[in-house]
Amino acid sequence: MGTSPRLAVLGSGKGSNFVALQEAILAGRLSAQIAVVVSDVPDAPILTRAAAFGLPVATLPPSPFKTKLGPEGEAALLDILRAHAAEWVVLAGYMRVVKEPLLAAYPNRVINIHPSLLPAFKGLRAWEQALHAGVTETGCTVHFVNAAIDAGEIIAQQRVEVRPGDTPESLHARIQIAEHELYPSALAKVLR
Ligand code: GRF
Repeated sequence: MGTSPRLAVLGSGKGSNFVALQEAILAGRLSAQIAVVVSDVPDAPILTRAAAFGLPVATLPPSPFKTKLGPEGEAALLDILRAHAAEWVVLAGYMRVVKEPLLAAYPNRVINIHPSLLPAFKGLRAWEQALHAGVTETGCTVHFVNAAIDAGEIIAQQRVEVRPGDTPESLHARIQIAEHELYPSALAKVLR
């Protein structure tokens, strides 16, 4: 496995997409290795789940901002990525805006998953936006990250139906099932 691409997974939350990626790797469906799992939230479940797989974990120092890292956090992130020789940065529920230091260090190597069919419903709680818009179909998108939010080149998408009676929670749960299928296969396509 020494030669498979080294991924750093960056997340702020529950880490279900991280688990889907690691399970795909263990099952031989994704030729890669997770070099480190990093979180800006010290008690995020993604860290506990990563440790349970025996993977290295790291946390970022507290940020003075809510929506982005401060200069100290940006520097710490790059140090962690270098220390673990990460070649790709895979965002999995990372809730802060990615800025230039990371993008410059990993050009075209930062990837995200977003819970809508981009370019529709950028930003937060995209499933709720879809529900309020009254669409009958939404989905999820894997895309390259650039400096514009949720606007980088699209790698792959998967459709999800909106059902009558859906709540934000039921729709998000259905989108997450699609995410867990899409993310490993889309990454495999990029890494090939
Ligand atoms: C997913 O819905 C993803 O699309 C969005 O954040 C959520 C992360 O969920 N970017 P999880 O932490 O992977 O369970």
